[in-house]
Amino acid sequence: MELFHISAECFPVAKVGGLADVVGALPKYQTKAGHEVRVIIPEYDVVFMNENAFETVFKGNVSLGNLNFPFSVHKESTNKLGFELYLVAIPELFDRKQVYGFPDDIERFLAFQIAALDFISNRDTIPDIINCHDHHTGLIPFMMLYSFKYEKLRAVPTVITIHNGLYQGQFGFEKMNYIPEFDLIHKNVLEWDHCINSLAVAVKCAGGVTTVSPSYLDEINGFANGLESLFQNVRYKSKGILNGIDVEIWNSMTDAMLEKNYSIADFETGKKANKEKLCSLFNLDATKPLFSFIGRLFDEKGGDLLPDAAFFALKEHANEINIFVLGSGNATIEDRLKNLIPEFKGNFNASIGYNEALAHLVYAGSDFMLMPSRVEPCGLNQMYAMRYGTIPIVRRTGGLRDTVIDFGDDGNGICHDQASVVDICYSIRRAKQLFENKEAINEVIERGMNTDNSWERVCQEYLEMYNTIIDKK
Ligand code: GLC
Repeated sequence: MELFHISAECFPVAKVGGLADVVGALPKYQTKAGHEVRVIIPEYDVVFMNENAFETVFKGNVSLGNLNFPFSVHKESTNKLGFELYLVAIPELFDRKQVYGFPDDIERFLAFQIAALDFISNRDTIPDIINCHDHHTGLIPFMMLYSFKYEKLRAVPTVITIHNGLYQGQFGFEKMNYIPEFDLIHKNVLEWDHCINSLAVAVKCAGGVTTVSPSYLDEINGFANGLESLFQNVRYKSKGILNGIDVEIWNSMTDAMLEKNYSIADFETGKKANKEKLCSLFNLDATKPLFSFIGRLFDEKGGDLLPDAAFFALKEHANEINIFVLGSGNATIEDRLKNLIPEFKGNFNASIGYNEALAHLVYAGSDFMLMPSRVEPCGLNQMYAMRYGTIPIVRRTGGLRDTVIDFGDDGNGICHDQASVVDICYSIRRAKQLFENKEAINEVIERGMNTDNSWERVCQEYLEMYNTIIDKK
């Protein structure tokens, strides 16, 4: 089967969050399973571009109303990522170091989607499936169905994979003329709540809708930032497919970013060495349990609860625990965390920013991984943590509900129900007790390390989804 993934991010080229990890891994495993898989993302000003070889495979021009943007498509020459990678270079819009967060994001991603379709529709072969990811690629299924320009792709089935339904890419109808010409009879398909809503458009037009976990699919019927009723109406073509993790990259036996490699047979000594390294870097006490958080500091991830939870837990357990935060995001949360550092010197620290190598050391060197998310479509950190012998402490929501079972039920982690400071502190208390019982904690760690979250199983589920919609076409 020939398939395209179109996305704003792909690890290791450009990463903001878990979307990149998934788009960097799923295609690799689909290729291994015998498919011809191509990934298209925008070309940003990132290190990957300087360190690799590319060839130009297409040149074109995108018009948004009367704005014109010349573009080229560059293919990475060696397929070193395990799939074919294509980068759409629109210098005026994407020659920037950051992926999102610009006032012209709507124009940027519209131009990207149009350029990607120009490229695909000019190739000799017609793909069997186009898999779009999140709202940045949400207008593709619409343009394929209705823009005259892409008639050739009309019969190609599309899937929209939702990694995060909170962000929807809304814009006003004054920009409708940016979309390549279509019969205005279809204008209402673009509309949700008086706007053009890219995610809603994709959900309406795609042949299949996937979310990145089964529980998240259930939850968006009740809470999806205004799209609840739409999701209820498309249940018949929707499927929750739990993400996997790239077990080649996330392998504590071979990970070059660790202080010491280890397996399930010697995790105690291996984790100890990594913990000591991490604690020496951040002035923490390696003899005490270490609770870490890695991720974006936003309310959605429970980031706003962290400063208070850390404060009360550190007060309650005086010098008996350590807490470490690696992440960035909301400036108020960042400041509140930084303010805790002098007060709890030696037991608390925060590294504001994003650092892939440090993240690996934190997974290996921590005892517990905090994930107090309000919303978590899948969550990958709990899976990375478990694989590295670190016990996840999660709020039961979305993919966290589907991957972590409380140790009280012979599970692999610690769970609570409310997104609240009280619940987090309660879990930390339970974790601390567990930490004091070597035999019991080792059992939980081993169950986590033995959990199979590899992509092989997931690939099969995507394939089944593709085949169902191919058959229907
Ligand atoms: C988004 C979601 C996260 C998910 C990831 C990959 O970042 O917030 O829960 O794991 O996408 O699908």
